[in-house]
Order: sequence, then structure tokens, then C-alpha cells
Amino acid sequence: MNFVEVIAKKRDGSELSEAEVQAFVHGASTGQVPDEQLAAMLMAICIRGASRSETQRLVEAMRDSGVLWRTGESFPEAVDKHSTGGVGDTVSLVFAPLVAACGVPVAMMAGAGLGHTQGTLDKLAAIPGFRTAANRGEAFDRLGRCGAFFAAQSQEIAPADRKLYLLRDTTGTVPSLPLIVASIMSKKLAVGARRLVLDVKCGSGAFCKTLAEARDLAGALVAVGEGAGVEVAAAITDMSQPLGDRLGCANEVRAAVEVLGGAGDERLRRLTVELAVDALAMAGRPRPDALAEIERRLADGSALARWGEIVRAHGGDPDAARLPRPRRTVTVPAPADGFVTGVDAEALGWVAVSLGAGRLRQGDQVDLAAGLQVHTRVGDRVEAGRPIATLEIGERPVDAEATAARVAAAIRIGETRPAPVPLVLARVGGKA
Ligand code: URA
Repeated sequence: MNFVEVIAKKRDGSELSEAEVQAFVHGASTGQVPDEQLAAMLMAICIRGASRSETQRLVEAMRDSGVLWRTGESFPEAVDKHSTGGVGDTVSLVFAPLVAACGVPVAMMAGAGLGHTQGTLDKLAAIPGFRTAANRGEAFDRLGRCGAFFAAQSQEIAPADRKLYLLRDTTGTVPSLPLIVASIMSKKLAVGARRLVLDVKCGSGAFCKTLAEARDLAGALVAVGEGAGVEVAAAITDMSQPLGDRLGCANEVRAAVEVLGGAGDERLRRLTVELAVDALAMAGRPRPDALAEIERRLADGSALARWGEIVRAHGGDPDAARLPRPRRTVTVPAPADGFVTGVDAEALGWVAVSLGAGRLRQGDQVDLAAGLQVHTRVGDRVEAGRPIATLEIGERPVDAEATAARVAAAIRIGETRPAPVPLVLARVGGKA
């Protein structure tokens, strides 16, 4: 097959056949199609979109590019969780130990940072010694021992997603509904948990900027999952400002540990609890009982203790004092008095990437210590000169003044307090 013709077909808006989708996915996982052609095809899909059946073919071909773990056959209660990508979105690190501490096994296939968002895999890499489960044997061993595993796309599992994910990250081809659906669902189906909690982000820091786009994405993810026999609960959640108050790898691990210890950022805690209730409801617990148990596990130290067990089972050191620290910090003062009327979460995500917390080019080393703390939320009153954010600078050379100016520009200040936005905007699928 002449792959240039296949790219041209998509460029001109035609639907790809099953064989053409297979050639693309096979070429990605084996290296038979060069990066420039893969990137051109990704851009063509990003601009032209894909039909429902093309998307389904992409999901299946990417799922079948590696081995299938069939987790649900050995652990029928296991639940997986995924976010479509946000800023300060540390939910997965809290969700896994919390839900496991409530007796529901968590089989989590995590991703690296994508575009301006920071990924769970990069955050886990900040924990000294942490190694994701490399194969089915390791994953199931960890699931049996501590009730959770974290795994990554690899040569074994959904290798086509691994390749395409890295290429999308550095070619401006992330915000595409079919590519997001194929990326998420191929690896979820390859791991094969029978239950899936999805956090579909919506707003300035998400790939879906509007509720209509988020509903389309949630609907497509749920349809693919249910079509494959997976029970899916999707929440569309607010990403019109960073979820938690910290961005960056080590920073977000610290934020997770604080929430697991019963304190921490209120929005991060609230959303994680919502999604954890969804997971327990799928396992048959009435929602009020699920909520009570989750609150108890956060208050009595058992969620934090479970985090320690999970980290140790993955070879890591759970002592938060050993996480990488920034070399220096720079505070960003409020330029005026007033109320925070909006936050450009994507701009803050890109600031974190520019500090080193994400990748601008394939193969870039993530600076695990770099990040950002955001001290204000939409609706807060601020005073001129008081800190609204802190840059946490690691090894990468940074123009601190220019970066601080970008942060200040991303946090809009006005005279009137805006109406609050709910954290969960809508739900698609799942048990009431
Ligand atoms: N998460 C993924 O795994 N893939 C995407 O494309 C977006 C979020």
C-alpha cells in the first residue's frame, strides 16, 4: 500500500478503509511507517475528523497492536480510571489508593503528559525507585498484593498508542476527538478491566473547551466502552481553572499525599471523592454508603497507608520528603486589587511545561522538580502586590521575569466576583 496516497485520502476528507487504518496503526507500532508520515496522518485526522466506524477501527487496531491482559477475567471487580487531560489534575494518584482501601481493586493504565497537561506517569516518575508494572504478571501480582497497579503503554500493551501519543504531544495533534477516543479506549480495552471511571475535562485547561465538545467526547468514549462490554461512568468536570493548586510532577505527588492524609486541596479532594463514589457504586455499593466509607478512609489514615503499600509494591519510596525539590522559587504578585474572574488553565499548563514539567519535543527529559503553585481561585479576592502564584524552577534555564508575566496574564482580575462554576458539570453513563 502506498501510504502517501492514504494520507492524501484523509487529507481530502475521505473515510479510510479497515485495511488503511490497520496499515497506519501497524506502521506506527512496528516503525514501518516513518514519523513524518505518521505525523501527517495525525494532522489530517485532527483537521478532517473521523467517522464513528473509522474511530472504532482505530480503537480496535490500536488495542490489538499489543497483547491483551484481560484483567477482568481474573479480577472481575477491578476498575480503571482515566482523565481526558487537565491541569493540576492529580486525581489518579489519590483515586487508586483510596478506592483500593475501600476494597475495590484498581487496574490503572496511566499516560505521560500530553500537550500542556501533566500525565500520571511523569508524576509517578518523581517518586524515587517507582517502576510501573511492565507486564501482566507484575501487574496482577501488585493487584493481588496491594489492590492496585499502575501500568504504562509499552511495547507489550497498546504499543501503537505509545508511539502515536508521543508524536501527538509534539505535533499539535492532541485535541482531536477520534484520536483521544482511540488513545484512551485502546489501552483501556487492552488492559481489560470491566469497569471504567472517566473524567472528561471541559474548559480552558482541557482539550474540550465547550460543554458541547465534552458531551460529544464523553458520549463517544462511553459508546466505545459499552460496545466492548465495559461498564463506563463518565463525569464531565470543570477545567476552567487548574483543578488542584499545584502543577508539576513532584509537586502533584505532594498534593496527592496531603489529600490522602485527610487534608490538602479542597477541589482536588472533592472531585476525587466524586469519582471514587462512582467506582464503588459500580461495585454495587449504595452511593451514601460509598461516600461514608471514602470519607472514613481519608480520615482514619487507611487511604494514606494504602498509598505507601502501593508505592512500595512498585519499588518506590513513599516518603514525601524524598521527592525532588526545586532549585529556586519566584513569587508572582497580583498586578491589581480585585476578584479573580478567570484563569487560563492552558496557559498555566504551558508555563509548567516551559519550566520543564512536560515535553516540547519528543525525547525531552521532564524536570521532576519543576512546577507552579497557584494561590488563588476564581472568585477569590486579591490585593495588588500579594502573591498569586509561585514558580518552582528546577534545572532548566528560565527567564523568571518573563515567565512570571505569563502567569500574571493568565490570572484575570476584575471588579466583580464571578458566579461559581460546579465541579461536576454533567454525567454520562454510570449508576445513579
Ligand atoms: N489521555 C490519553 O490517554 N490520551 C489522550 O489522547 C488524551 C488523554
